[in-house]
Amino acid sequence: MKVLVIGNGGREHALAWKIGQSSRVDHVFVAPGNAGTAVDAENLDIDPMDFPGLIRFAKRNDVGLTVVGPELPLCGGLVDAFQDEGLRVFGPNKQAAELEGSKVFCKNILHGGNVPTAEFQVFREAETAERYIMDRYPSETEDVPVVIKADGLAAGKGAIVCHRRADAIEAIQRIARDREFGAAGDRMVIEERLDGQEASVLAITDGKTILTLPPAQDHKPALDGDQGPNTGGMGAYCPTPMVSNDMMHFVEENVLVPTVHSLKRNKIPFCGVLYAGLMLSNQGPKVLEYNVRFGDPECQPLLMRLQSDLVDLLDAAIDGKLDSIEMPKWDTRPSVCVVMASEGYPGSYEKGREIRGIEEANQLEDVKVFHAGTRIDGDRVLTDGGRVLGVTAMGNSISAAKLQAYKAVQMIRWSGAWCRKDISDKALAHVE
Ligand code: AMP
Ligand code: GLY
Repeated sequence: MKVLVIGNGGREHALAWKIGQSSRVDHVFVAPGNAGTAVDAENLDIDPMDFPGLIRFAKRNDVGLTVVGPELPLCGGLVDAFQDEGLRVFGPNKQAAELEGSKVFCKNILHGGNVPTAEFQVFREAETAERYIMDRYPSETEDVPVVIKADGLAAGKGAIVCHRRADAIEAIQRIARDREFGAAGDRMVIEERLDGQEASVLAITDGKTILTLPPAQDHKPALDGDQGPNTGGMGAYCPTPMVSNDMMHFVEENVLVPTVHSLKRNKIPFCGVLYAGLMLSNQGPKVLEYNVRFGDPECQPLLMRLQSDLVDLLDAAIDGKLDSIEMPKWDTRPSVCVVMASEGYPGSYEKGREIRGIEEANQLEDVKVFHAGTRIDGDRVLTDGGRVLGVTAMGNSISAAKLQAYKAVQMIRWSGAWCRKDISDKALAHVE
């Protein structure tokens, strides 16, 4: 079978790499891909939002399965367009993708399923939102424990965590008056700020059965110790001891199952990856957000550990047969993924810097360097994005996996390359 993966990040490199290992797959295409997928698969010069172009390619080349990585084509209806043409595709349709595409929609589904999440209010007008904050928090100096979020997709930047009243007023200004996030800010959610550790629990679902994947932890802030601005994710590891077996059961029973049921009651069956971003609060896990796809970078350490055939899992989800497949097998060893980024990221950065040492790093045992923002130029590999590489390693313990990942990182060089030095340290602190 030929498989087409849509996207160009680290997640898509990991997907293409894992799908290519399936005994049922003889060719993997990635549209548009990066320098890593050019080696492990074949890149296509087709934009992920060019639905007619992708459909034409899939039909002409007898593609048996298409797997959609990023949220934009999912929210734009790529799955619907493929299904209309009778093409097999893994991912939620446009309506189901609203779970990520609209915070208001997500909150309503959570509310309908009685899923634990922060208390919230929805606003359209800056003035009403400002009045709500001023009335509720009359003192300028008191803690204002709210998070203000633009409703729509904002590349992970639309959630503004506030501590003082001035922060909240500024957040409303940015979303609703300055329109920093465009139409994504037509509505805002103001919700209670929760405290605790964050964890990512992903599940593959066919809309009836849920297959939960081992829990992972992302590292969103740019700098060590969770300092600095938020990024797309500077590293992740799996499994995280923050989420115990008991907690996983709680999340399945009280978060994932009722979410799928709440969607079903609204006549929206969900087929794809359901990714719960959780805050492990004192009162138990609460949903911060849902994504409707594999996480990036969580996908990299997750798939590094998957021993079963990923295509079997995706196929079973599409066919509504997740209840009848064997449970997937996982390597018992943990994995750690360290993201290497361009100088200046998550702000502005230059592209086109030559990267050296990837091949040498890939030779290390239990190491895989997943590419994200890279491109090929002759026989050179150049930087082409903010998050450039996801250097991933397994080890007998989290600290061994961390050591191996950073050993690989040290072998890779380009001018301005940097990474967080503390990926997975929270797990180590937790274990002690
Ligand atoms: P979201 O776009 O909803 O995932 O939010 C992005 C990030 O903002 C999360 O990963 C959290 O770090 C933070 N965040 C979102 N909602 C809350 C909340 N209610 N309390 C505390 N932090 C939050
Ligand atoms: N790791 C965060 C995300 O994929 O949205």
